Amino acid sequence: MHQEVGLIATVALGFVFAAVLGYLADRLRLPPLVGYLVAGIMIGSYTPGFVADGALAAQLAEMGVILLMFGVGLHFSTSDLLAVRGIAVPGALGRILLATLLGMGLASWWGWSLGAGLVFGLSLSVASTVVLLKALEEQNKVDSADGRVAIGWLIVEDLAMVLALVLLPALAGVLGGNTEAASGQPDIPIAVTIGITLLQVGGFAVLAIVFGPRVVPWILTLVARTGSPELFRLSVLAIALGIAFGSAEIFGVSFALGAFFAGVVMSESHLSHRAAADSLPLQNAFSVLFFVSVGMLFDPSILVRDPFAVLAVLALIIVARSVIAFCIVLMLRYPVGMGLSIAAGLAQIGEFSFILAGLGVSLGLLPREGQDLILAGAILSITLNPLVLLAGEGLQKSIRSAWPGLFLRYGKRNSDKLARELAVIQKRNEERNRQHQLEMQELIETFPMFAQVGEDSQEELLLLFRPKSASPGERVVRAGDRGDGMYFISSGAVEVELEDENVPLEAGSFFGEMALLSGGRRTADVIAVDFCQFLVLERRDFNVFMARHPALRAAVSDMAKERTEMNVSRRRRDQSLDAT
Ligand code: CMP
Repeated sequence: MHQEVGLIATVALGFVFAAVLGYLADRLRLPPLVGYLVAGIMIGSYTPGFVADGALAAQLAEMGVILLMFGVGLHFSTSDLLAVRGIAVPGALGRILLATLLGMGLASWWGWSLGAGLVFGLSLSVASTVVLLKALEEQNKVDSADGRVAIGWLIVEDLAMVLALVLLPALAGVLGGNTEAASGQPDIPIAVTIGITLLQVGGFAVLAIVFGPRVVPWILTLVARTGSPELFRLSVLAIALGIAFGSAEIFGVSFALGAFFAGVVMSESHLSHRAAADSLPLQNAFSVLFFVSVGMLFDPSILVRDPFAVLAVLALIIVARSVIAFCIVLMLRYPVGMGLSIAAGLAQIGEFSFILAGLGVSLGLLPREGQDLILAGAILSITLNPLVLLAGEGLQKSIRSAWPGLFLRYGKRNSDKLARELAVIQKRNEERNRQHQLEMQELIETFPMFAQVGEDSQEELLLLFRPKSASPGERVVRAGDRGDGMYFISSGAVEVELEDENVPLEAGSFFGEMALLSGGRRTADVIAVDFCQFLVLERRDFNVFMARHPALRAAVSDMAKERTEMNVSRRRRDQSLDAT
């Protein structure tokens, strides 16, 4: 008997089944995600036993896609996309066009309507980001030229699918679907709907590209300055999910695309590597649920009901699309090796196909049969993907040994040019990181006391410090004022004016700590005697930071105590001199 279960049970069952079957798959030398898919089939409604909530699972899967696209965005900057555009844009669009036409051909052979054919063809034309990224990560190829081209290609495919997703409801009427379900306002002409949709997507892209890079890194810095890792992690997630949800609500853009832009925008900040590391565990957990929920939607009886249709779909997804991708890469004059790795890497369908198929069914365009075939094609092509990758590598080796000249020379000019462009981008990123590293190093060299606080805290200090400068003769601190901050001298020199003598302080020393520690007033004037650069730790930041680093606080307090004692004894000596 079937037993319906709720959110917690769906998550729990999903994780438990996925863990067990993932482990078994690994023991059988299969990729763990085959285990996750089978786990989904087992807790799906088409097999006996427990039935997890399919609608909930679908939403959890969507979370997985959002986090994943966010991760892709974090690693993929706009400059990357621009560098690979020469191959990614024509490649992705060309392949979508040809694969969709092939899918429509199959559909019309089966006697389906034009609308059904279009949804079917589009669903079969787009590869799975989840699967490709997992494969690239396993092979350590995310940063290679082939890897970046494949990701760029996928992003163009995804963008095209997003456009298809938003346009489909507007076109449902013309294609023979039920417009009622499609849009609330059936009276508006299609051209206007399409225009509005394109404006919304365009508006979102402009907003994301123009304002995002200013606002998001600023927020991240602000939060990082609090020094709370928990708050930082929370903000990363809030930005990713917030932008994803907001863009879907306000601009009608898909969650996934919104999350992707959130990632791209965040990648401009030097804190992006921390954001990536912090969001990874959640991303992993939800991508497991993604595979489980795909399995849940699948009705295995289609394999028996219509094996030839399944085979035809599979041949289209794996063979036809790979051949198309390979030919396009060669036609664009890129190397054979790149063609083969892109063809093999993108030889599966995934998340966008399910979303499109689901929409097609709800618009009355795609028959249930079509959705089942798409799911079967997805599950089988995802499962077979590791084999396809192996086959691609094998083919690459045999072509290299059979025609070494062709393999090495064909497309060399374009691939060299691409490699150069990618190297420039990589260098720029490295330069940015090095700059940052240098700043940290300088900080430690000038102020050795910070060596004890650990790298994360040093980074936090760099964010907390406010730079300030002073000219010779300028009074930096006035006796009797309230203490607003502690000053670290990075260059130049100052003098602390005590009653009868001046104490010089040079680069590497600090002052202004006494008033902050005591909560009282400044004990002396401090005057710049040279052009000075200071790093100022403001009162509030001082309190928070020192509370977390007791050893540092003790060192600063010891120095303050020493100085006070020195001042007291100096005063006593003066008084006794006065008396005599
Ligand atoms: P604060 O009292 O906040 O402002 C004036 C600063 O001068 C004080 O903190 C110390 O940092 C610094 N200062 C006071 N006395 C001495 C001293 N004897 N030697 C060096 N610095 C001092």
